[in-house]
Amino acid sequence: MLQHIRPVAVATSLLVLLGVGIEAQQPCASVLTPSYAAPVVAAGFSTQLVTQKLFKPRGIIFDKEGALLVVQAKSGITRLTFSDGGGTCLGVTKSTTLVQNSALNHGIEISEDGKTLYASSSNEVFSWAYDSANVSVSNQRTLIRNMTNSDHVTRTLLLSRKVPGMMLVSRGSGENIDMLATNEESGISQIRAFNLTALQDGQVYDYPSQGVRLGWGLRNSVGVAEHPVTGGIYSVENSADQIRRSEVDIHQDNPGEELNFHGYLNGTSGKGDNGNYGYPDCFALWSTKDFPDLGRTIQVGSQFSLNTRGSNVDDAGCANDYIAPRLTFQAHTAPLDIKFNANGSLAYVTFHGSWNRDQPAGYKLSVISFKDGEPTEPSNSTTAVIDILTNPNLSACPNGCFRPVGLALDSQGRIFMSSDSTGEIYVLQQQAGATLPASGTGTGGGGSATSSAAAAGLSVPWRSGDGYTLLVAGLLGVVSFVLGGGSLFAVSRA
Ligand SMILES: *[C@@H]1O[C@H](CO)[C@@H](O)[C@H](O)[C@H]1NC(C)=O
Ligand SMILES: *[C@@H]1O[C@H](CO)[C@@H](O)[C@H](O)[C@H]1NC(C)=O
Ligand SMILES: *[C@@H]1O[C@H](CO)[C@@H](O)[C@H](O)[C@H]1NC(C)=O
Ligand SMILES: *[C@@H]1O[C@H](CO)[C@@H](O)[C@H](O)[C@H]1NC(C)=O
Ligand SMILES: *[C@@H]1O[C@H](CO)[C@@H](O)[C@H](O)[C@H]1NC(C)=O
Ligand SMILES: *[C@@H]1O[C@H](CO)[C@@H](O)[C@H](O)[C@H]1NC(C)=O
Ligand SMILES: *[C@@H]1O[C@H](CO)[C@@H](O)[C@H](O)[C@H]1NC(C)=O
Repeated sequence: MLQHIRPVAVATSLLVLLGVGIEAQQPCASVLTPSYAAPVVAAGFSTQLVTQKLFKPRGIIFDKEGALLVVQAKSGITRLTFSDGGGTCLGVTKSTTLVQNSALNHGIEISEDGKTLYASSSNEVFSWAYDSANVSVSNQRTLIRNMTNSDHVTRTLLLSRKVPGMMLVSRGSGENIDMLATNEESGISQIRAFNLTALQDGQVYDYPSQGVRLGWGLRNSVGVAEHPVTGGIYSVENSADQIRRSEVDIHQDNPGEELNFHGYLNGTSGKGDNGNYGYPDCFALWSTKDFPDLGRTIQVGSQFSLNTRGSNVDDAGCANDYIAPRLTFQAHTAPLDIKFNANGSLAYVTFHGSWNRDQPAGYKLSVISFKDGEPTEPSNSTTAVIDILTNPNLSACPNGCFRPVGLALDSQGRIFMSSDSTGEIYVLQQQAGATLPASGTGTGGGGSATSSAAAAGLSVPWRSGDGYTLLVAGLLGVVSFVLGGGSLFAVSRA
């Protein structure tokens, strides 16, 4: 067998060097083509579009049978089964509606035994008994309520695998700068944890007044994850728009989005545990370029004050009294999900993409390296994010681009990603033995996020064994693009 594989591998490497798409060894019967310019995949990864025509797919998760459960916003939960030709050759074989509920909009979870399903609306967290063998859902319960507010309406769910029964629920702000977030009792801009084991039948938790507060001053932390080895809790935060500092407009490249660390659920307090992360008084610095009153002490990742008349706090207060992010990301890229691989060496992050910036930013799936439960890069790094799936022309976004939202990893470590505006799900796989490409993001505020992937000369193998199709698909994609619909989506900012 090896004798047969080796020439193919050599031929593949040559094609890669020549900047031609990888020739697959087996034709894949289930290839779909996006209606926009084909995404660019980083060296060492392959990808395929596995389904289209969903309605705003947001959170996704696998059940025990390996079927993918998808929250379609304002519709409910759908279960997809796949034909699996190996690698990224997957096609949907069956789609079943599990739950019809127009209030569901993003959050989804499943218990470790696969028998309880959870989902959220902007106001409530529900559970159902779930049988994945005969595909039945029954006994809907409301577990947590009283979370309604305007603007940021997703309520991301995370059921701990380290501390049984603990359900984390993230709630964002009711407006861009929401002063209610300064009041601990409001429940606004917080992540709280609820012990579902202690919840009696018929009892419902009240979000603002019950549960354990893991962190507050978190504007809109849509992605929440537990490190699979250490149990450390991380979240990705969508920071503010239209910000001014010292009366100067700094909104193009500041403030940065954030990766925050919240400690552990096992009773060990860690830095961040129940702390205040600064919003709406302190924000993280992404770009130092033309930053007013930069001074000597603030650098990338420092929290800064707006320095306006009426500011409650100055830069020193922001540094001393609030928890700074563990990493800072390019402004307005809108991180929506974070999922670790099985051993916690990588965290995948979706960046839904900007609206509050002249040149669009984000619109990509990226990865961050971790070691011993922490990012390998320091908190002042601008190169911690490595892009693995990007849109080739950010100027065409949002309408001519995919917009990543939810992530789920299957038992083989393949990465599934939803794109709400295009109604799609992609699958990606890192080739065995491949190393991560270098970061392409370089300097703060740069728009060069796709450079490393593009330079690798790889395109998506939309149709196996046919290099021309890549080019044709790309051109057709631009021509045949009809309607992305991103701006129609009420939740599109997060
Ligand atoms: C599915 O199996 C469960 C037992 O796990 C049973 O209670 C339920 O009635 C079954 N539902 C259907 C639709 O067969
Ligand atoms: C809902 O939360 C508010 C605080 O945001 C509180 O005043 C109110 O009593 C709560 N309602 C219920 C039914 O618990
Ligand atoms: C959750 O509640 C159960 C039942 O009351 C209790 O045994 C368990 O220790 C609680 N877990 C935590 C993390 O407090
Ligand atoms: C909680 O988890 C941390 C990180 O894994 C560990 O260092 C600590 O010992 C654990 N604490 C308890 C009480 O188990
Ligand atoms: C973690 O898993 C990845 C992917 O399976 C593997 O490449 C890497 O070597 C593993 N790292 C450690 C520290 O075990
Ligand atoms: C990042 O911070 C470290 C100290 O933690 C410092 O040594 C280094 O020079 C900083 N890097 C940059 C690019 O500012
Ligand atoms: C990128 O998209 C913009 C906006 O749709 C378009 O004007 C431009 O021609 C595109 N550039 C390339 C290289 O396709």
